[in-house]
Amino acid sequence: MKSPKPNRRPSQLAMDGGMPIRRTPLPLEFPGTYFYGKQELDLVSRVIRARSPNRYYGLDLQYMTEQFEREFAKFVGVPHALAVNSGTAALAVGMMALGIGPGDEVIVPGYMWVSTVGAVVRLGAIPVLADIDETFCLDPKDVERKINKRTRVVVLVHMSGATGNVAPIVELCRKYKIHLLEDVAQAAGASAHGKRLGSFGDISIFSFQLNKPMTTGEGGAVCTRTKQLHDRAFAAHCVGYPRNAAGRLDLKNLEFATWGYGARMNEPTAALALAQLGKLPKICASMRERKHKLKKMLSDIPGLSFRRLDDPEGEAGSFLLTIFPDAAHANFFVKALRAEGIVPQRGGISNIRMTDWGLHIYHHIPSLVNKLPVSGGNNPWKDPRNRASQRVCYSKGTLPRCDDLISRTLLLCIPPVLTNRDVKDISDAYHKVAEAHPLL
Ligand SMILES: Cc1ncc(COP(=O)(O)O)c(C=O)c1O
Repeated sequence: MKSPKPNRRPSQLAMDGGMPIRRTPLPLEFPGTYFYGKQELDLVSRVIRARSPNRYYGLDLQYMTEQFEREFAKFVGVPHALAVNSGTAALAVGMMALGIGPGDEVIVPGYMWVSTVGAVVRLGAIPVLADIDETFCLDPKDVERKINKRTRVVVLVHMSGATGNVAPIVELCRKYKIHLLEDVAQAAGASAHGKRLGSFGDISIFSFQLNKPMTTGEGGAVCTRTKQLHDRAFAAHCVGYPRNAAGRLDLKNLEFATWGYGARMNEPTAALALAQLGKLPKICASMRERKHKLKKMLSDIPGLSFRRLDDPEGEAGSFLLTIFPDAAHANFFVKALRAEGIVPQRGGISNIRMTDWGLHIYHHIPSLVNKLPVSGGNNPWKDPRNRASQRVCYSKGTLPRCDDLISRTLLLCIPPVLTNRDVKDISDAYHKVAEAHPLL
């Protein structure tokens, strides 16, 4: 005999045995992949048919990388763009172009990615953490407090698809004659008041890894304001030397010679990047539209707030950050929402507490907290040239505002294919949980 169905009230939370709002997982993130189509196939096929996967040599060069660099620079609004094979490589190359080394300090936000600090450490310089504010990006006041005569670069990381206080940070860098490097890895296609992110700094870097607004699986770019920075970045991304017009290494030109990373982009990747670039505004518009709709629907929940956005119309729209009054509420909500079915398909990371957001948070990076050497005896924190910077600390508690915000915020990915139904289900789940467990 079948057991009788339990008598469930619609308002009973799924975590307490009630009916969940939905049973189908939400679509995966990876925005750019949903837009793969004929253009990607045609351009990549052209490279393969021409049997020329390298940008410099081959049977029948297609010049995809060159064309991509030209079009990307135009898109961002800068004079130069250099295609590389990852955002991590772009950061390494960018820092090298700026000539960072022992004795230098580089200001980075507490919410970033391990590669942002790694690029500094690998060159023997000291990363100095600055706090974030409700924009989840650098707090200009804390940046100014951290500036001293050793500060060479401020890295403004445009996190989770949008920028923060770009104008005051630009102003600070000007005032103190410090380089500005924009890390736009998570926000390609976004802008601030009509100016593309990546066009504010001396150098800006991008990632085209799978989770980013446009994707080639792995890939990146370095944009530069001056020919000199571009030439240095070029040598750093290649084998340490410039190349001549025929693509041959120019070993006689030692002006920008260095030790290169071998981080060149290949032609099939550039072909994919070219096709994706053409679709980037549409990809961002699709995410933004869904995010704005959802945010509006959630805006009547008392006690729930959102990340502060300087220019909501310019954001990429890839993430919604919901901020709770305290960590206990955030922890309860994430469990309750997940029980209501607000979870991504397998392989996705969405609707998580930001405390679970891995190497994006300074005190989650063990090699930073423990000041581990790069290799052998090469350890910037033990280098006498960095003596003045050695008291710098990276343990939890170093950035109180960052710690507080991260502890009470949930992160939801906004794939560009979220349906109206998906958006409504997310909103219904938030409202259901808020009704059962008010925030105020
Ligand atoms: C802020 C930030 N910077 C840099 C990177 C590095 O990019 P990649 O994964 O292409 O090496 C990432 C990647 O997640 C990132 O989020």
